[in-house]
Amino acid sequence: MSAAATSETILVFDSGLGGLTVYREIAAARPGADFIYVADDAAFPYGAMDEAALVTRVVTLMDELIAAYRPDLIVIACNTASTIVLPDLRKKISLPFVGTVPAIKPACANSVSRHIAVLGTEATIAREYTRALIRDYAGDCQVTLVGSKTLATYAEAELAGTPVSDQAISAEIAPCFRDDGARTDTVVLACTHYPLLIDRLRRLAPWPVAFLDPAPAIARRVGDLLGPAPSAARAGTTRAIFTSGRPPTAALAQFGIRSQQVASAGSD
Ligand code: DGL
Repeated sequence: MSAAATSETILVFDSGLGGLTVYREIAAARPGADFIYVADDAAFPYGAMDEAALVTRVVTLMDELIAAYRPDLIVIACNTASTIVLPDLRKKISLPFVGTVPAIKPACANSVSRHIAVLGTEATIAREYTRALIRDYAGDCQVTLVGSKTLATYAEAELAGTPVSDQAISAEIAPCFRDDGARTDTVVLACTHYPLLIDRLRRLAPWPVAFLDPAPAIARRVGDLLGPAPSAARAGTTRAIFTSGRPPTAALAQFGIRSQQVASAGSD
């Protein structure tokens, strides 16, 4: 068994605040690690971006971030980016990457009714990567694909303290719930923003379902790649970088990230 490193730096990347749901899980498992949380909020939402532009943007940004922060591992805590950018990142950069892709295989393993739904950004739902996961792993499960234009934006608004109505959230999730004699019993949260709304999703679901959040599986994968966590005797630090230059300090505080640890893009 390999010994724990004395320190490690993990970079967690998303278009906005959704990746905090993944950060939270990894930080709980590795309290002695140092984290750089990067939100490319200047380009939010990624779900509305052209694929080629998204690949170029993320690869360029990643080169700059690696030069500045020298991470040991990078988590792309965003389905919309992972399902299109990961092959380019892995080809160009020789660091370990952990991506976030729709949890279709575990959802189908979990489903008793054999009816699942995949709720993601319109871009993630349209990707060939997602369609291939269904072909490879859905087996005899019926899969309802639901692309939402606005749910990630609603999650950002809620976390920033701007309430979104039940009606607006219900309208986005309603197509997940199919009943043709057998009902949908599992909904894959294929966007890291959606677990930010988990209490609302559970309350507004027309009947109880399992909502699958990928964060625990991502934290386990990080552990597989990095090995034993560094000692928590020294508490790890977290720095948050927002490409807009406007870090949402109140939202970050809810995840234990203090304002003096927050930087704008390019600053230190
Ligand atoms: N958090 C991102 C994801 O997991 C998407 C939000 C966006 O559209 O930028 O897909």
